Amino acid sequence: MKTIIYNIGTLAGILPEGVLKLEGAEMNHVECIENAYLVIEDGIITEFGSEDESIIKTQDSVKTGTEYIDAKGGFVLPCFCDSHTHIVYAGCRDGEFRDKIAGLSYEEIAARGGGILNSADLLHETSEDELYRQAMVRVNEIMAMGTGAVEIKSGYGLTVEDELKMLRVIRRIKETCPITVKANFLGAHAVGRAYKGRQGEYVDLICDEMLPKVAEEGLADYVDVFCDKGFFTVEETAKILKKAAEYGIRPKIHANELEVSGGVQVGVEYDALSVDHLEKTTEAEIEALRGSNTMPTMLPGCSFFLGIPYGNAKGYIEAGLPVALASDYNPGSSPSGNMRFVMALGCIRMRLTPEQSFNACTINSAYAMGVSDILGSITVGKKANVIITKPVPSLAFIPYSHQTPIIERVLIP
Ligand code: NIG
Ligand code: FE
Repeated sequence: MKTIIYNIGTLAGILPEGVLKLEGAEMNHVECIENAYLVIEDGIITEFGSEDESIIKTQDSVKTGTEYIDAKGGFVLPCFCDSHTHIVYAGCRDGEFRDKIAGLSYEEIAARGGGILNSADLLHETSEDELYRQAMVRVNEIMAMGTGAVEIKSGYGLTVEDELKMLRVIRRIKETCPITVKANFLGAHAVGRAYKGRQGEYVDLICDEMLPKVAEEGLADYVDVFCDKGFFTVEETAKILKKAAEYGIRPKIHANELEVSGGVQVGVEYDALSVDHLEKTTEAEIEALRGSNTMPTMLPGCSFFLGIPYGNAKGYIEAGLPVALASDYNPGSSPSGNMRFVMALGCIRMRLTPEQSFNACTINSAYAMGVSDILGSITVGKKANVIITKPVPSLAFIPYSHQTPIIERVLIP
Protein backbone atom coordinates (compact mmCIF):
# COMPACT_ATOMS: atom_id res chain seq x y z
CA MET A 1 0.00 0.00 0.00
CA LYS A 2 1.38 3.36 -1.08
CA THR A 3 0.33 6.74 0.31
CA ILE A 4 1.49 10.15 -0.87
CA ILE A 5 0.92 13.18 1.34
CA TYR A 6 1.14 16.26 -0.85
CA ASN A 7 0.57 19.97 -0.49
CA ILE A 8 2.49 19.95 2.82
CA GLY A 9 3.13 23.53 3.96
CA THR A 10 6.07 22.48 6.15
CA LEU A 11 7.51 19.02 6.61
CA ALA A 12 9.27 19.27 9.99
CA GLY A 13 11.51 17.06 12.09
CA ILE A 14 13.70 15.66 9.34
CA LEU A 15 16.81 13.80 10.48
CA PRO A 16 19.39 11.77 8.59
CA GLU A 17 19.44 7.99 9.07
CA GLY A 18 21.37 6.83 12.11
CA VAL A 19 20.74 9.81 14.40
CA LEU A 20 19.34 8.26 17.58
CA LYS A 21 19.26 11.33 19.84
CA LEU A 22 20.14 15.02 19.88
CA GLU A 23 22.21 16.60 22.64
CA GLY A 24 23.19 20.10 23.72
CA ALA A 25 23.17 22.63 20.89
CA GLU A 26 22.01 19.94 18.41
CA MET A 27 18.60 20.33 20.03
CA ASN A 28 18.33 23.95 18.88
CA HIS A 29 17.44 23.09 15.32
CA VAL A 30 14.50 21.39 13.58
CA GLU A 31 15.14 20.61 9.92
CA CYS A 32 12.18 21.49 7.69
CA ILE A 33 11.23 21.49 4.00
CA GLU A 34 8.61 23.96 2.78
CA ASN A 35 6.05 22.90 0.14
CA ALA A 36 6.84 19.25 0.53
CA TYR A 37 5.55 15.78 -0.16
CA LEU A 38 6.02 12.52 1.71
CA VAL A 39 5.76 9.01 0.33
CA ILE A 40 4.78 6.09 2.58
CA GLU A 41 4.96 2.46 1.50
CA ASP A 42 3.57 -0.26 3.75
CA GLY A 43 3.73 2.09 6.71
CA ILE A 44 7.34 3.13 6.13
CA ILE A 45 8.65 6.50 4.91
CA THR A 46 10.31 5.81 1.57
CA GLU A 47 10.76 9.27 0.10
CA PHE A 48 10.15 12.95 0.77
CA GLY A 49 11.23 16.26 -0.65
CA SER A 50 10.24 19.54 -2.14
CA GLU A 51 6.97 19.21 -3.97
CA ASP A 52 7.50 18.01 -7.44
CA GLU A 53 5.07 18.56 -10.31
CA SER A 54 5.22 14.91 -11.26
CA ILE A 55 3.94 13.82 -7.87
CA ILE A 56 1.02 16.22 -8.03
CA LYS A 57 0.06 14.96 -11.49
CA THR A 58 -0.02 11.34 -10.47
CA GLN A 59 -2.86 12.03 -8.09
CA ASP A 60 -5.18 11.72 -11.07
CA SER A 61 -4.01 8.21 -11.77
CA VAL A 62 -6.43 6.39 -9.52
CA LYS A 63 -5.56 3.14 -11.24
CA THR A 64 -2.21 2.90 -9.42
CA GLY A 65 -4.00 2.17 -6.15
CA THR A 66 -2.04 4.89 -4.43
CA GLU A 67 -3.78 6.85 -1.68
CA TYR A 68 -3.32 10.62 -1.93
CA ILE A 69 -3.69 12.82 1.12
CA ASP A 70 -3.93 16.57 0.63
CA ALA A 71 -2.22 18.22 3.63
CA LYS A 72 -3.82 21.52 2.54
CA GLY A 73 -0.76 23.55 3.47
CA GLY A 74 -0.51 22.22 7.04
CA PHE A 75 2.55 20.96 8.88
CA VAL A 76 3.48 17.29 8.75
CA LEU A 77 5.41 16.24 11.87
CA PRO A 78 6.61 12.96 13.33
CA CYS A 79 4.21 11.76 16.02
CA PHE A 80 5.12 12.42 19.64
CA CYS A 81 6.77 9.57 21.53
CA ASP A 82 5.65 9.34 25.14
CA SER A 83 8.44 7.49 26.92
CA HIS A 84 6.97 7.51 30.45
CA THR A 85 3.36 6.66 31.28
CA HIS A 86 1.28 4.64 33.71
CA ILE A 87 -1.87 4.47 31.56
CA VAL A 88 -2.98 1.03 32.64
CA TYR A 89 -4.87 1.79 35.85
CA ALA A 90 -8.34 1.28 37.27
CA GLY A 91 -10.75 4.11 37.89
CA CYS A 92 -9.21 7.40 38.94
CA ARG A 93 -8.18 9.34 42.06
CA ASP A 94 -10.45 12.34 41.90
CA GLY A 95 -10.99 12.16 45.68
CA GLU A 96 -7.29 12.83 46.24
CA PHE A 97 -7.60 15.76 43.87
CA ARG A 98 -9.77 17.38 46.55
CA ASP A 99 -7.15 16.57 49.24
CA LYS A 100 -4.50 18.12 47.06
CA ILE A 101 -6.54 21.28 46.55
CA ALA A 102 -7.08 21.42 50.31
CA GLY A 103 -3.30 21.53 50.74
CA LEU A 104 -2.00 17.98 51.17
CA SER A 105 1.24 17.20 49.32
CA TYR A 106 1.86 14.10 47.17
CA GLU A 107 4.00 12.63 49.96
CA GLU A 108 1.35 13.35 52.63
CA ILE A 109 -1.35 11.64 50.57
CA ALA A 110 0.94 8.64 50.06
CA ALA A 111 1.94 8.52 53.74
CA ARG A 112 -1.76 8.29 54.71
CA GLY A 113 -1.96 5.06 52.72
CA GLY A 114 -3.52 6.76 49.70
CA GLY A 115 -1.86 7.49 46.40
CA ILE A 116 -0.37 4.51 44.59
CA LEU A 117 -1.84 2.08 47.16
CA ASN A 118 -5.34 3.40 46.43
CA SER A 119 -4.83 2.62 42.76
CA ALA A 120 -3.48 -0.83 43.70
CA ASP A 121 -6.65 -1.60 45.73
CA LEU A 122 -8.85 -0.60 42.81
CA LEU A 123 -6.79 -2.52 40.30
CA HIS A 124 -6.95 -5.64 42.44
CA GLU A 125 -10.74 -5.59 42.18
CA THR A 126 -10.76 -4.98 38.44
CA SER A 127 -10.73 -7.82 35.90
CA GLU A 128 -8.07 -8.02 33.19
CA ASP A 129 -10.70 -7.38 30.50
CA GLU A 130 -12.07 -4.31 32.26
CA LEU A 131 -8.56 -2.99 32.85
CA TYR A 132 -7.81 -3.40 29.15
CA ARG A 133 -11.05 -1.62 28.25
CA GLN A 134 -10.27 1.34 30.50
CA ALA A 135 -6.67 1.55 29.29
CA MET A 136 -7.78 1.45 25.65
CA VAL A 137 -9.88 4.58 26.18
CA ARG A 138 -6.64 6.35 27.18
CA VAL A 139 -4.64 4.79 24.35
CA ASN A 140 -7.18 6.04 21.81
CA GLU A 141 -7.22 9.42 23.47
CA ILE A 142 -3.43 9.88 23.23
CA MET A 143 -3.30 8.59 19.65
CA ALA A 144 -5.87 11.20 18.64
CA MET A 145 -3.65 13.84 20.27
CA GLY A 146 -0.66 12.78 18.17
CA THR A 147 1.19 10.20 20.23
CA GLY A 148 2.60 7.44 18.02
CA ALA A 149 4.59 5.46 20.58
CA VAL A 150 4.05 4.92 24.28
CA GLU A 151 5.90 3.28 27.15
CA ILE A 152 3.55 1.84 29.76
CA LYS A 153 4.55 0.83 33.29
CA SER A 154 3.09 -1.68 35.69
CA GLY A 155 3.28 -0.72 39.36
CA TYR A 156 -0.34 -0.61 40.51
CA GLY A 157 -0.35 -4.36 41.14
CA LEU A 158 2.25 -4.69 43.90
CA THR A 159 1.53 -8.42 44.27
CA VAL A 160 2.88 -11.14 41.99
CA GLU A 161 -0.54 -11.83 40.45
CA ASP A 162 -1.57 -8.22 39.97
CA GLU A 163 1.75 -7.10 38.50
CA LEU A 164 1.47 -9.93 35.98
CA LYS A 165 -2.14 -8.93 35.30
CA MET A 166 -1.06 -5.39 34.48
CA LEU A 167 1.78 -6.55 32.26
CA ARG A 168 -0.55 -8.89 30.37
CA VAL A 169 -2.88 -5.96 29.74
CA ILE A 170 0.08 -3.99 28.37
CA ARG A 171 0.98 -6.95 26.14
CA ARG A 172 -2.60 -7.06 24.85
CA ILE A 173 -2.43 -3.35 24.00
CA LYS A 174 0.84 -4.03 22.15
CA GLU A 175 -0.79 -6.81 20.17
CA THR A 176 -4.02 -5.03 19.33
CA CYS A 177 -3.00 -1.41 18.65
CA PRO A 178 -1.14 0.20 15.79
CA ILE A 179 0.73 2.44 18.26
CA THR A 180 4.23 1.21 19.22
CA VAL A 181 4.22 0.07 22.86
CA LYS A 182 7.05 -0.73 25.29
CA ALA A 183 6.29 -2.44 28.61
CA ASN A 184 8.05 -1.49 31.82
CA PHE A 185 7.90 -3.61 34.99
CA LEU A 186 7.58 -1.24 37.98
CA GLY A 187 6.97 -3.65 40.85
CA ALA A 188 9.03 -1.23 42.97
CA HIS A 189 6.53 1.61 42.69
CA ALA A 190 5.47 1.34 46.34
CA VAL A 191 5.53 -1.39 48.99
CA GLY A 192 2.42 -3.58 48.63
CA ARG A 193 -0.04 -3.30 51.54
CA ALA A 194 0.61 -6.86 52.71
CA TYR A 195 4.30 -5.97 53.17
CA LYS A 196 3.78 -2.81 55.24
CA GLY A 197 6.79 -2.41 57.54
CA ARG A 198 8.63 -5.20 55.69
CA GLN A 199 10.08 -3.29 52.77
CA GLY A 200 13.18 -5.55 52.53
CA GLU A 201 10.97 -8.60 52.12
CA TYR A 202 8.96 -6.84 49.43
CA VAL A 203 12.19 -6.11 47.53
CA ASP A 204 13.06 -9.82 47.85
CA LEU A 205 9.61 -10.67 46.45
CA ILE A 206 10.35 -8.46 43.43
CA CYS A 207 13.75 -10.07 42.88
CA ASP A 208 12.93 -13.68 43.65
CA GLU A 209 9.36 -14.07 42.42
CA MET A 210 8.16 -11.19 40.28
CA LEU A 211 11.20 -10.67 38.06
CA PRO A 212 11.68 -14.38 37.23
CA LYS A 213 8.00 -14.70 36.24
CA VAL A 214 8.03 -11.45 34.27
CA ALA A 215 11.15 -12.59 32.43
CA GLU A 216 9.82 -16.09 31.82
CA GLU A 217 6.68 -14.74 30.16
CA GLY A 218 8.68 -12.07 28.31
CA LEU A 219 6.34 -9.43 29.66
CA ALA A 220 8.74 -6.52 30.15
CA ASP A 221 11.05 -4.57 27.89
CA TYR A 222 12.34 -2.55 30.85
CA VAL A 223 12.45 -2.47 34.63
CA ASP A 224 11.77 0.59 36.78
CA VAL A 225 12.17 1.58 40.44
CA PHE A 226 10.72 4.62 42.22
CA CYS A 227 14.06 5.57 43.80
CA ASP A 228 13.08 8.47 46.01
CA LYS A 229 12.47 9.66 49.54
CA GLY A 230 9.79 7.57 51.22
CA PHE A 231 9.85 4.94 48.46
CA PHE A 232 12.92 2.83 47.51
CA THR A 233 16.56 3.43 48.50
CA VAL A 234 19.62 3.40 46.25
CA GLU A 235 20.67 0.04 47.75
CA GLU A 236 17.25 -1.51 47.08
CA THR A 237 17.29 -0.05 43.58
CA ALA A 238 20.72 -1.54 42.90
CA LYS A 239 19.56 -4.94 44.12
CA ILE A 240 16.57 -4.93 41.75
CA LEU A 241 18.59 -3.65 38.79
CA LYS A 242 21.28 -6.27 39.35
CA LYS A 243 18.69 -9.01 39.30
CA ALA A 244 17.00 -7.54 36.20
CA ALA A 245 20.39 -7.41 34.44
CA GLU A 246 20.65 -11.19 34.89
CA TYR A 247 17.56 -11.43 32.69
CA GLY A 248 18.89 -8.84 30.26
CA ILE A 249 16.23 -6.28 31.24
CA ARG A 250 17.48 -2.70 31.06
CA PRO A 251 16.35 -0.05 33.57
CA LYS A 252 14.49 3.21 33.29
CA ILE A 253 14.38 4.88 36.70
CA HIS A 254 12.06 7.24 38.61
CA ALA A 255 14.60 9.51 40.29
CA ASN A 256 14.82 12.82 42.12
CA GLU A 257 11.15 13.76 42.06
CA LEU A 258 10.83 14.39 45.79
CA GLU A 259 14.48 14.63 46.84
CA VAL A 260 18.00 14.33 45.43
CA SER A 261 17.88 10.55 45.75
CA GLY A 262 21.00 9.05 44.18
CA GLY A 263 18.64 7.49 41.61
CA VAL A 264 20.42 9.13 38.68
CA GLN A 265 23.80 7.75 39.70
CA VAL A 266 22.54 4.21 40.33
CA GLY A 267 20.65 4.36 37.03
CA VAL A 268 23.76 5.39 35.11
CA GLU A 269 25.76 2.68 36.89
CA TYR A 270 23.35 0.05 35.57
CA ASP A 271 23.24 1.63 32.09
CA ALA A 272 19.65 2.85 32.39
CA LEU A 273 18.06 3.86 29.13
CA SER A 274 16.58 6.86 30.93
CA VAL A 275 16.34 8.49 34.34
CA ASP A 276 13.03 10.27 34.75
CA HIS A 277 11.49 13.14 36.74
CA LEU A 278 14.65 15.04 37.87
CA GLU A 279 12.68 17.88 39.42
CA LYS A 280 15.39 18.00 42.09
CA THR A 281 18.90 17.82 40.71
CA THR A 282 22.35 19.27 41.29
CA GLU A 283 25.59 19.53 39.31
CA ALA A 284 26.42 15.99 40.47
CA GLU A 285 23.54 14.54 38.40
CA ILE A 286 24.66 16.44 35.31
CA GLU A 287 28.20 15.14 35.78
CA ALA A 288 26.97 11.57 36.33
CA LEU A 289 25.01 11.70 33.06
CA ARG A 290 27.84 13.14 30.98
CA GLY A 291 29.19 10.54 28.55
CA SER A 292 26.51 7.99 29.53
CA ASN A 293 23.90 6.29 27.33
CA THR A 294 21.16 7.43 29.70
CA MET A 295 18.54 9.95 28.59
CA PRO A 296 17.55 12.50 31.24
CA THR A 297 13.77 12.69 30.95
CA MET A 298 11.61 15.36 32.51
CA LEU A 299 7.88 15.28 33.14
CA PRO A 300 6.52 18.82 33.18
CA GLY A 301 2.89 17.61 33.40
CA CYS A 302 3.72 16.20 36.85
CA SER A 303 5.30 19.50 37.97
CA PHE A 304 2.25 21.34 36.66
CA PHE A 305 -0.26 19.09 38.42
CA LEU A 306 1.58 18.71 41.75
CA GLY A 307 2.83 22.29 41.84
CA ILE A 308 6.41 21.14 42.35
CA PRO A 309 9.52 22.60 40.65
CA TYR A 310 10.14 21.94 36.97
CA GLY A 311 13.28 20.05 35.96
CA ASN A 312 16.19 22.20 34.85
CA ALA A 313 15.99 21.12 31.21
CA LYS A 314 17.67 24.28 30.00
CA GLY A 315 20.64 23.75 32.33
CA TYR A 316 21.05 20.18 31.10
CA ILE A 317 21.01 21.28 27.46
CA GLU A 318 23.45 24.11 28.15
CA ALA A 319 25.72 21.52 29.76
CA GLY A 320 25.70 19.64 26.43
CA LEU A 321 23.33 16.87 27.51
CA PRO A 322 20.22 15.60 25.72
CA VAL A 323 16.78 16.00 27.33
CA ALA A 324 13.55 14.13 26.65
CA LEU A 325 10.07 15.15 27.78
CA ALA A 326 7.21 12.75 28.52
CA SER A 327 3.72 13.00 29.97
CA ASP A 328 3.87 10.66 33.00
CA TYR A 329 0.15 10.07 32.36
CA ASN A 330 -1.07 8.52 35.63
CA PRO A 331 -3.98 8.97 38.07
CA GLY A 332 -1.95 10.57 40.88
CA SER A 333 0.54 13.10 39.62
CA SER A 334 -0.29 13.73 35.97
CA PRO A 335 -3.76 12.77 34.76
CA SER A 336 -3.09 13.83 31.17
CA GLY A 337 -1.29 12.29 28.22
CA ASN A 338 -1.42 15.36 26.03
CA MET A 339 2.09 15.57 24.59
CA ARG A 340 1.36 18.85 22.86
CA PHE A 341 0.66 20.34 26.29
CA VAL A 342 3.91 18.76 27.51
CA MET A 343 5.70 20.46 24.62
CA ALA A 344 4.00 23.74 25.58
CA LEU A 345 5.03 23.39 29.24
CA GLY A 346 8.57 22.70 28.02
CA CYS A 347 8.49 26.15 26.41
CA ILE A 348 6.33 28.10 28.86
CA ARG A 349 7.60 26.77 32.19
CA MET A 350 11.02 25.29 31.36
CA ARG A 351 11.94 28.03 28.89
CA LEU A 352 12.98 25.65 26.13
CA THR A 353 12.77 27.01 22.62
CA PRO A 354 10.00 25.46 20.50
CA GLU A 355 12.71 23.57 18.60
CA GLN A 356 14.31 22.17 21.78
CA SER A 357 10.93 21.19 23.19
CA PHE A 358 9.88 19.56 19.91
CA ASN A 359 13.11 17.51 19.77
CA ALA A 360 12.62 16.53 23.42
CA CYS A 361 9.11 15.20 22.63
CA THR A 362 10.05 13.35 19.44
CA ILE A 363 13.54 11.99 18.70
CA ASN A 364 14.83 12.15 22.30
CA SER A 365 11.71 10.66 23.85
CA ALA A 366 11.88 7.96 21.16
CA TYR A 367 15.44 7.24 22.36
CA ALA A 368 14.24 7.16 25.98
CA MET A 369 11.95 4.24 25.14
CA GLY A 370 14.35 2.48 22.79
CA VAL A 371 12.57 3.19 19.51
CA SER A 372 14.53 6.06 17.95
CA ASP A 373 15.84 3.71 15.25
CA ILE A 374 12.27 3.36 13.94
CA LEU A 375 10.40 6.46 15.16
CA GLY A 376 10.81 10.07 16.32
CA SER A 377 11.73 11.82 13.06
CA ILE A 378 11.01 12.13 9.37
CA THR A 379 13.67 9.77 8.04
CA VAL A 380 13.60 7.31 5.13
CA GLY A 381 13.14 3.83 6.56
CA LYS A 382 11.32 4.93 9.72
CA LYS A 383 7.68 4.18 10.55
CA ALA A 384 5.38 6.81 9.06
CA ASN A 385 3.61 7.78 12.28
CA VAL A 386 2.87 11.41 11.48
CA ILE A 387 0.66 14.31 12.51
CA ILE A 388 -0.95 16.49 9.85
CA THR A 389 -1.96 19.92 11.17
CA LYS A 390 -4.25 22.61 9.89
CA PRO A 391 -2.29 25.42 8.24
CA VAL A 392 -0.40 27.15 11.09
CA PRO A 393 2.10 29.99 10.80
CA SER A 394 5.13 28.34 12.42
CA LEU A 395 6.48 25.51 14.56
CA ALA A 396 6.31 27.90 17.54
CA PHE A 397 2.55 28.28 17.02
CA ILE A 398 2.04 24.63 18.00
CA PRO A 399 3.09 25.06 21.69
CA TYR A 400 2.18 28.77 21.79
CA SER A 401 -1.46 28.29 20.90
CA HIS A 402 -1.56 25.07 22.82
CA GLN A 403 -5.33 24.72 23.24
CA THR A 404 -6.23 25.54 19.64
CA PRO A 405 -7.38 22.32 17.94
CA ILE A 406 -4.86 22.28 15.11
CA ILE A 407 -4.48 18.53 14.59
CA GLU A 408 -6.20 17.62 11.34
CA ARG A 409 -5.22 13.97 11.18
CA VAL A 410 -2.91 11.48 12.87
CA LEU A 411 -1.56 8.66 10.72
CA ILE A 412 -0.40 5.56 12.57
CA PRO A 413 -0.27 2.98 9.80
O1 NIG B 1 5.71 9.16 38.03
N1 NIG B 1 6.30 9.09 41.12
C1 NIG B 1 5.90 7.94 41.01
N2 NIG B 1 5.00 7.46 40.18
C2 NIG B 1 4.11 8.27 39.43
C3 NIG B 1 2.90 8.62 40.19
C4 NIG B 1 2.08 7.47 40.41
C5 NIG B 1 0.82 7.74 41.15
O2 NIG B 1 0.75 8.65 42.00
O3 NIG B 1 -0.12 7.00 40.89
C6 NIG B 1 4.86 9.43 38.85
O4 NIG B 1 4.62 10.59 39.18
FE1 FE C 1 5.97 8.00 36.61
